[in-house]
Amino acid sequence: MTDTVTIRRPDDWHLHFRDGDVMREVVPYTARQFARAIVMPNLSPPVTTVELAKAYRERIMAAVPQGVDFTPLMTCYLSDTTDPDDLARGASEGVFTAAKLYPANATTNSAHGVSDVEKIYPVLERMEAEGIVLCVHGEVTSADIDVFDREAAFIERYLRDIVVNFPKLKVVFEHITTSDAVDFVMESGPQVAATITPQHLHINRNAILVGGIQPHNYCLPVAKREEHRLALRKAATSGSPKFFLGTDSAPHLRSAKETSCGCAGIFGAPYALESYITVFDEEDALDTFEGFASLHGPAFYGLPVNEGEVTLERVEHAVPETLPLAGEEIVPWHGGQELGWRFVG
Ligand code: DOR
Ligand code: ZN
Repeated sequence: MTDTVTIRRPDDWHLHFRDGDVMREVVPYTARQFARAIVMPNLSPPVTTVELAKAYRERIMAAVPQGVDFTPLMTCYLSDTTDPDDLARGASEGVFTAAKLYPANATTNSAHGVSDVEKIYPVLERMEAEGIVLCVHGEVTSADIDVFDREAAFIERYLRDIVVNFPKLKVVFEHITTSDAVDFVMESGPQVAATITPQHLHINRNAILVGGIQPHNYCLPVAKREEHRLALRKAATSGSPKFFLGTDSAPHLRSAKETSCGCAGIFGAPYALESYITVFDEEDALDTFEGFASLHGPAFYGLPVNEGEVTLERVEHAVPETLPLAGEEIVPWHGGQELGWRFVG
């Protein structure tokens, strides 16, 4: 039995750092395990311009512990009024690595998102021409669509058209949760890829709703039926370069989760690699772990792979139920559970 696994230093291709005290305290968790991370721009107000992204990047860099090598990769929050010139300038200056499409009101701090995808077609055209990656929160927001069907509906209503109309645009279908999304990505050309979170590999929707409401298992897109979880596990461990690691780590304080209207988001950063490798181990696929965690993302984004390595070892350990954060506490993903793998460094 393999008891240690060493891979090239991985990257997290989708997460939320927030700002202020929370940001300063969550950045070290990610910088400990990952060399780079794609940082989501859904602050309040959102990161919509090169100048805002530069300033945010500096605040993040100031939170990286001394001696730790970590690079935040910034994204531009697309809105109905995004200026294609500003976006293109930000990309050419190395500030923006990607731009993020949130359908308006799909999730946390997305009120300023795109109200009608066709409104940003001129921006997508420019992104295609400049080779700027589009990261997509793929859920429709119409009240008439059931929350469990919103990802599949987004494919049919918008994503298929985007991919047809902009055949060279690089698209990352973020945090996919359904077999429909896996099939769509597999059927599309090499310019379409997807990130997969640890939670969607571990849990199905029963983990949110059975035995009482479990707010710490709630995120968006919401976890779906078991058949979807199994399709995601198969995709992640398949070795296909179209699927790569993106935790969607989304810190919300315990008080904001355990309330009558709890926030969507799971704080996956502290035990991210341990969580993923558990799945690869269970699927007897430790051989494809490095590709998913460290190689497929850089290849898709056209970035070099990282220098250096990290090691995980097979050791049982308990994850604390809560961690201190910003003078309060937060429940990490796997909080209160035993994990069979430990991050060594
Ligand atoms: O669960 C989620 N939380 N999904 C998102 O898309 C946003 C995120 C957040 O920012 O909290
Ligand atoms: Zn996210």
